[in-house]
Amino acid sequence: MSDVKKLFVKTYGCQMNVYDSERMAEAMGADGYVETDTPDDADMILLNTCHIREKAAEKVYSELGRYRKLKADKPDLKIGVAGCVAQAEGEEIMRRQPLVDLVVGPQSYHRLPEMAAKAGHGVKQIDTEFPEEDKFDHLPRGPKARRAPAAFLTVQEGCDKFCAFCVVPYTRGAEVSRPAERLMAEARDLVERGVVEVTLLGQNVNAYMGPEGWTLAKLIREMAKIDGLERIRFTTSHPNDMDDDLIAAHGEVEKLMPYLHLPVQSGSDKVLKAMNRKHTAEHYLRLLERIREARPDIAMSGDFIVGFPGEDETDFEDTLALCREVKYAQAYSFKYSARPGTPAADRAHVDESVKADRLARLQEMLNQHQYEFQASMVGKTLPVLLEKPGREAGQMVGKSPYLQAVHVDADPADVGKIVQAKIVKSQKNSLSGVVV
Ligand code: SAH
Ligand code: SF4
Ligand code: F3S
Repeated sequence: MSDVKKLFVKTYGCQMNVYDSERMAEAMGADGYVETDTPDDADMILLNTCHIREKAAEKVYSELGRYRKLKADKPDLKIGVAGCVAQAEGEEIMRRQPLVDLVVGPQSYHRLPEMAAKAGHGVKQIDTEFPEEDKFDHLPRGPKARRAPAAFLTVQEGCDKFCAFCVVPYTRGAEVSRPAERLMAEARDLVERGVVEVTLLGQNVNAYMGPEGWTLAKLIREMAKIDGLERIRFTTSHPNDMDDDLIAAHGEVEKLMPYLHLPVQSGSDKVLKAMNRKHTAEHYLRLLERIREARPDIAMSGDFIVGFPGEDETDFEDTLALCREVKYAQAYSFKYSARPGTPAADRAHVDESVKADRLARLQEMLNQHQYEFQASMVGKTLPVLLEKPGREAGQMVGKSPYLQAVHVDADPADVGKIVQAKIVKSQKNSLSGVVV
């Protein structure tokens, strides 16, 4: 097949979806599709969706509604839904929105090209199975195209934790780790394509357990030996899977960046128990102490849910107290959203207005800490990985070790280089520096 078709992919949700979207686009590329950045001229539209909160899932249907006219004008247009809404809702999606030609769950992406070829003109395709094989093994690889300096690499998928609020164990299935030797090969391949920073991804990335007994710490230590790979990160971790070796790695592996996303969700032991988190606030704080002993400058990041069923004002104040103690460099916070099929969904809910009030108070504190962390960088000289051109001519945007965006004056040809930049100004979401 030689005629070029255009594929528009829109990605919602977490970084694992970003990684999956790249793989799906590559696989469709082998079938003659090139990517386009607008749905208007696409021959196929693929939404890679997120089911984590109600709002995220509903966005998909409003987006699909916008394609009605496109499909009327171009009956050959194929519309697909992938990702966690696909897994959670299956055929229901086609019932609710008949424009949809195919629905493919996160573990079935290797079947996408075949499904896309069959779908359309009233022929529907659906696959939401959890097959035994590694979906990435069966996705065709594209040619060795040049890549941006920072890349994601999925090492583990799924979750066995079953937090009472969360859909991930249902949409992504049980924890599965990819074989270490494949990951090493993929990391080397990325470096050959110009990648200098790799972020290892997993819903529970620190529970990684390679079939050969490799832990995440071992994987990081081995990847650090790859010449040309300068920075390693990983996300997202569960507090109960931070083992001693992984903590030690933060002090020993120079290429491992001093930034850790370690969600706690709440500072109240009563709420943590109701959430089925299987750790206490104290356990989390002591863990942090050990991590900071290994790497004193580590920037902490976290996730919070406010208004979980049963959370009262005292519980919420425990969350504020925990934040005051940790001083997160960066954090995400959400109002609890009931998800069908999860244990907490049927419990008595906290009032919407109370949730909104708590979220505002929590975010005020988190913002203040983030602001202070950013401001503490002024005057320091940081290594900055130059990633892409900035808004103004002659400007580049890069990343500090602490995952901050840094604007510097630099030559666009220097993309992928790590420069030393003296920080001269801080904003909430970025820094400005001068290359020294
Ligand atoms: N695997 C990761 C993150 C999963 S989802 C972890 O365990 O930390 C990302 C974040 O979304 C969660 O950390 C949680 O804070 C939030 N989240 C998940 N389910 C939610 C729900 N039902 N309502 C509100 N926030 C939710
Ligand atoms: Fe969801 Fe909890 Fe698993 Fe994270 S650890 S993905 S919050 S069930
Ligand atoms: Fe969303 Fe699925 Fe990721 S629910 S957060 S896209 S694992």
